[in-house]
Formats: sequence, structure tokens, C-alpha cells
Amino acid sequence: MNEEKRATFGGRISAVLVAAGSAVGLGNIWRFPYLAGENGGGAFLVIYLAAVLLIGLPLMLSEFSLGTATKRNAVGAFRQLDKRWVPLGYMGVLSSVLILGFYLVVAGWTAEYMIHSLFSDQVQNTDPQSHVEAFNNFISNPWKPVLYALLFSVATHLIITRGVQRGIERASKVMMPLLFLALAVLAVNAILMPGGMAGLRFFLAPDFSKVTAETFLMAVGQAFFSLSIGLGTMITYASYFKKGTSVRGTALQVTLLDTVVAVLAGLVIFPTVFSAGLEPGSGPSLVFITLPSIFCKMPMSALWSTIFFLLLVLAALTSTISMHESATAYLEEEWKMTRRKAAWCVTIFTGLLGIVASLSLGIWKAHTLFGLTFFDLLDYLTANIMLPLGALLTCIFVGWKVDRKIFEQQLYPDCRSGFAFRLVRFLVRYVCPVLLVVLFADNIGLM
Ligand code: PHE
Repeated sequence: MNEEKRATFGGRISAVLVAAGSAVGLGNIWRFPYLAGENGGGAFLVIYLAAVLLIGLPLMLSEFSLGTATKRNAVGAFRQLDKRWVPLGYMGVLSSVLILGFYLVVAGWTAEYMIHSLFSDQVQNTDPQSHVEAFNNFISNPWKPVLYALLFSVATHLIITRGVQRGIERASKVMMPLLFLALAVLAVNAILMPGGMAGLRFFLAPDFSKVTAETFLMAVGQAFFSLSIGLGTMITYASYFKKGTSVRGTALQVTLLDTVVAVLAGLVIFPTVFSAGLEPGSGPSLVFITLPSIFCKMPMSALWSTIFFLLLVLAALTSTISMHESATAYLEEEWKMTRRKAAWCVTIFTGLLGIVASLSLGIWKAHTLFGLTFFDLLDYLTANIMLPLGALLTCIFVGWKVDRKIFEQQLYPDCRSGFAFRLVRFLVRYVCPVLLVVLFADNIGLM
């Protein structure tokens, strides 16, 4: 496609905002706390932070470089550089739609909680068990959560068809600072609650006795999921960066923002969990049964709850947009569809996945594969297998196949690279692939 005809994101701040909009979402606030809660709290946090730094950041730099160098979608980027690697792009697009399939369901829950906070006095209920019951009743309802997931799907579709620039930029600009503020206020509140300190200890003091090979895989998978990498979303987004956008600065800031939000979410959730006598290993319901326990103790609980879930809805929306966009851009550019038609294909397919994923937690709960519901299967398959595999292959591609000069030029357009570039390249060429191979081998029991 003609370069001038492609949409771009505004200046540098916009690039950071939209990429952070993709990264910051339910991965940070819903998925990270529940995985940390199931996997030993502090120990999971330490492994997660190491994964972000050693693998996440170098991989984000690599994906950004592929996007800025080619100005193509995830498949087109590989096609342009080396046709044999196109299947890696396909896997990325497939990962995006599979993730979107179950993500829409959780995003729908946040929308329901937002609306519920406005119209019901359940928020004021101080019995933590009643929040657990309310959540279980809601997600197993045969039509309500499905409807909310579809609502979310339509909202994403509308923004996607209005074009890249306006929709995504605007949503991110407002949401990000407010989300920070709200999380910080909640964290202070949570830590000061009676029993809050025990939660803080659980989250910050590592206990490595619960760590297994799977914990490492989960932490690495979560790092990819949360940073939106390993599936080409960031290739697509970087292809819209305006000329002169700093790849290094953007990657650093996005990684930092994303990590801070995840840690803040942990600082809100765990003190509340311990204070309310809930179970940190409650799984995917954790955030939804915990947050109401903090709101009910605050003045103007309904208002707080509504505002916070509204921010979550927006954070989820900027993420669903990015997954949708990477599949839509692929259909539009590689299949030469109109944007409208491409977007409809993605919306219908992911909407159907969403319906099945939602029902698999309720009336279709008995139908499982490998002991997992369809919802859990999508989650496990993408975060623990497809993203780490995509990440491994992307590192090999950028580290060993792409001309060093191309990579260098994207990171250092002024050609003045030094030790930092050599370090990043070393991480991409050796450290990331070796760690990921060991991780896979370890998990399928080869080591
Ligand atoms: N990073 C997003 C989140 O944390 C989810 C996401 C994954 C978005 C993959 C795009 C691609 O919520």
C-alpha cells in the first residue's frame, strides 16, 4: 500500500498512548493479579518483572522495528522481509482473534459491573461472600454475559471502522492518566484497611516454595499477554507511527507504564483480598469478587465503583481495538478487502468465539477439552503456547534473519548506536531464544 495513504498516529506522545492503550488492559488488572494469587504472590511478581525486562522489552523493540521498517501489517511485514516467515504472521493474526474471543467476555463483565454499580445496591453490601455469589450467578447466566460481550464487540467494531487515528487516540488520551489516579487512590485505601498489610506481604515478599516450571511459563506468557507482544499487534501499531517517532523511547515508556499498572493492581487487590478474608487463589473471578469489597467500605461507594469500572471498560476497549485492528489490517492489506468488510469479518468471527467462550462458563460448563472449558482453553493456548512460540520465532527472525542494519536503523535513526544496542541485540539473539526454548522443554518434560 502507498505509504502516504496509510493512516498514522499523531506525534510521539500519541504513539506512546496508543501502544500503551493496547498494552494496558484486563491483562494488567484482571489477569495479572489472579495469576499472581494462584502462583505464590511475590515469587510470581519477581519472575514476571525479570521476564518483562529480559524478554518483553527486547521483543517489543523487535516488533516495533519490524513495523516501522516495513509499514505493513503483521503478515505483510514478514512477507516483505522474507516470504518463508509469513506463517509466523498468520499465527500472530490467529492469536489476536483467539484472544479477542475470550477477552470480549471479560470485557463484557466489566461493562456489566459498571452498569450494575449504578443501578443496584449490591455495591454497598459488606459481606464478601455475597460478592462471590453475585459474580457466579452473573457469569453462569445464559444470556446476560453473552449480551455484554456482544455489546463490547459492537463498540470495538464502531471505533475500528471510524479509522485508526481518531478513535484509538482519543480513547487512550483520556483513560490512561485517570486509570493511574484511580488505582493509586484505591491502593492507598486497600493497604490501610485492617489486615491489608498481610496482603502487601503476600504480594511483595517472594516465597519461592510454590514455584514450578509452569510458574515460569505462566509469568512469561503473562508478560507477553500484558505487553501485547508475540503476536504482531505491535508490528501493526508501529506501522502507523509517524516518521520520527522514537522506537526506543516508545518501547521503554510503554513497558514501564504497563508494568506500573500491573503492580498497582496487585497493590489494590491483595491487601483487599486478605482484609476481606477472600482466597488469593480464586482464579479468574478474583478481581470481580475483590473490588466490590473495597468499594463498599468507601464513601460514595456506587460512584467509585461506577467510575472505576468505567475506566476498566475503556482500558479493555483500547486493547480490544488493537487486537481487532491487527486482524482487520491483515484482511484489508493482504486480501484487499475494504476496511468495512474486513472489520465485519473479524467482528463476526470473534463475536461467535465470544458467545461460545461465555457459555462455556455457564450452561456449557460440562463440555471440556483437556479438562479445560472453551474459555480457559483459549486463554491457555494463546498465552502459554502461541505467544511464547511467536515470541521465540520473532526473536530468531529479528536476531538472525533480518539485516542488522535494518534493526539498528529503526532503533538509532541517527546511526549512533553503542553499547545499549549491542546489549539489546545480544538479548534478542541469544538470551530470549535460549530462555524460551528451555522454558518449553521444561514444560513438556524434556528437562
Ligand atoms: N495487553 C492487553 C492487556 O493487557 C491484551 C492484549 C493482548 C492486547 C494481545 C493486544 C494483543 O489487556
